[in-house]
Amino acid sequence: MVRDLVVERREAGRAVGAILDRVALAVEPGAFVAVTGPSGAGKTTLLNAIAGLTKPTVGTVLWDGVDVGVLSDARRDRWRRDTVGLVFQDFQLFAELGVLQNILLPMTFDHVRVPAAATERAKALAERVGLGGRSLVAAKLSRGEQQRVAIARALMRAPRLVLADEPTASLDAATGTRIADLLIESCRDSGAALLVVSHDPALIARADRRLRLSGGRLEAMEAS
Ligand SMILES: Nc1ncnc2c1ncn2[C@@H]1O[C@H](COP(=O)(O)OP(=O)(O)O)[C@@H](O)[C@H]1O
Ligand SMILES: [Mg+2]
Repeated sequence: MVRDLVVERREAGRAVGAILDRVALAVEPGAFVAVTGPSGAGKTTLLNAIAGLTKPTVGTVLWDGVDVGVLSDARRDRWRRDTVGLVFQDFQLFAELGVLQNILLPMTFDHVRVPAAATERAKALAERVGLGGRSLVAAKLSRGEQQRVAIARALMRAPRLVLADEPTASLDAATGTRIADLLIESCRDSGAALLVVSHDPALIARADRRLRLSGGRLEAMEAS
């Protein structure tokens, strides 16, 4: 899926080394792959490159025969909306919108009026992340609650590929387990590929495959 990916570190417009150095990675449908590694190793950069949010210097992101890198900006945006569910490290919720409105955001690009079935799905997801019936705007939620909204939103359109950046970082252990259940079970049930970046040993332990990003290189982790 990802081949020879290089993303250069740029300072004052000049390349000063590689953040990602010829990284290769495949995540099969239905598989759960975890990437760990020290802070600043390039984990977020890797997810952004796969999602087509960062343009790699070299290398290819292939998805279902589509070379994401050669798509026009508009087509790449559409590909991302139709294919990828993103859980951002900083959530990227709309501060002034409520829980359901944030979860429903991915629907509003394609629909002037959100279908009733979508609202029902959003309510079910809000329930699954323990935020059913919460009417506060996102800005007034705790970080852990915001993280759960972000995860529900990523799953809203049943994406084929879920990219989650430290999705349990703001959650206590019990909530983290419940949210991991939701992510893993949703992806397994729908045959979606799940790529998670995490420092959470409990989450990493559940992956089918564990990789470590360090010094720009991505390597298999020895069994622990
Ligand atoms: N937009 C950017 N411009 C320049 N350098 C960046 C940018 N984003 C990230 N970096 C640098 O790339 C490296 C990897 O960052 P990141 O992918 O966020 O790491 P991680 O998620 O593993 O903590 C860091 O050294 C960071 O400073
Ligand atoms: Mg990061």
